This record gives sequence, C-alpha cells and structure tokens, in this order.
Amino acid sequence: MADAGALKERAGRAALDLVEDGMRLGIGTGSTAEAFIHALGVQVARGLKVRGVATSERTAALCRRLSIPVVTLEEEPMLDLAIDGADEIDSSLGLIKGGGGALLREKIVAAASARFVVIADGAKVVDHLGAFALPIEINGFGLMSTYIAIRKAAERLGLDASISLRRDGENPFITDGGHLILDASFGLIPDSEALSRSLHEIPGVVEHGLFLGLATEAIVAYDDRVETLRPVA
Ligand code: A5P
Repeated sequence: MADAGALKERAGRAALDLVEDGMRLGIGTGSTAEAFIHALGVQVARGLKVRGVATSERTAALCRRLSIPVVTLEEEPMLDLAIDGADEIDSSLGLIKGGGGALLREKIVAAASARFVVIADGAKVVDHLGAFALPIEINGFGLMSTYIAIRKAAERLGLDASISLRRDGENPFITDGGHLILDASFGLIPDSEALSRSLHEIPGVVEHGLFLGLATEAIVAYDDRVETLRPVA
C-alpha cells in the first residue's frame, strides 16, 4: 500500500501533464503542492518555459531554489492554470484549504486562474466538508470581537464550533499577509455557502478556507489509480 507521501507525488506528477510551454501558473502551498513543484522543477531544468505566481513565501523560496521563474500577481494578473492541494474535497469540488496557513493568497490566485486544479491523495475526499477545522484568517485588531462574531454567526446557522487561535510554538501563527488564523472545528458544515456568506459579513474576517465554485478539476491519487474529478452540481 502506497503511503500518503507517495500518493501526493503521484497526484503532483499527474498535474504536470496539464502544464504547457509558455503557461502562466499559480503555484500552491503545502506538501502535495511541493510534490508538484519538484516535478515541475525537473521539467523546467529540461527546458520547459513557465512563469509562476507563488501562493506563499515558502512556495516562492522553493521555486527559486529549483530555478522556476517566479513573478508577482501584479506582473501576471491573469493566470492560465493554478495547481494546489486541499485539506478536504467534496463532490461539488467544494474545498477546505488553509491547513498550511496560505489560504488568502491561495484563494486570490485560484480566482485569478482560468483553470484551478486541486491535487490530493484519496484521504482528502469527503462526503461533507467540516471534519477538518476551517481556517479563518482574521485581522489582529479586535481579535476577541471577531472571535465572538464568528461564534454568533455559527450559532445562527445552528453550528456548534470549537474555535482556537493557531499557534506557531509559543507565539500566534502569523500569515504571509501579517494576519492571524482561527481554526474552527464544526464537525460537519451542512450549508457551506451560507457559512461562507456569514463569515464574509464579519469585518475582522479577512478570508476563510472554504473554496466554493473555484476548482474546475481535482486530481486524486489512490493506491491503485489516479482519478480526475469534476464538480457534481
Ligand atoms: C495551504 O495553506 C493549504 O491550503 C494546503 O493546500 C492544504 O493544507 C493541503 O496541504 P497538504 O498538501 O500538505 O496536505
């Protein structure tokens, strides 16, 4: 049986088939995205010409180490293809993302891409989103007020959340954008669209990790096969 690392590599390599010479890429964050980046680096060393917008400083550093040309989203505001991992994927290709803390840049890059392909191992595919704690990126100003507002918004939707401030050792985790992250465990999110709207209405919320209607395909690696999923309405 292949371990999760081998499955991530398989999904990452499969995504490479979608990359064409001259493409403007969105390049994701996390261990699965890194498997793709390593495979991409090999092709770039062999002469493939691409330019990539990185979704995190960590990804940008890895791309530079592998000599993958990195550009800013200001330089390339419209991308051909974004490739990124996910923490959960449902049948309509709704996602929870942000386990690695890069959700804000990931969502901006995904939205700027004509095609957004998620890569994952089979364990990420779920019937309903919510077992993975939803990352919510918030402004540091008014942390407690924002926390209370999120809790009330969840209650109005009948959701009981356990919410914790993400830490990096002793200190709060700080995103590339200089914000904080609250991880909200809902267990099950029956109406992800409603939750997404409610969270966006809270002033201190910068972005949340529900990616709805963004992914065009998901490449999912299992022990015995690699499947391409498309959204089921
Ligand atoms: C990064 O912020 C995340 O959105 C990742 O894409 C997600 O956490 C998946 O990460 P892995 O590929 O490491 O599981």
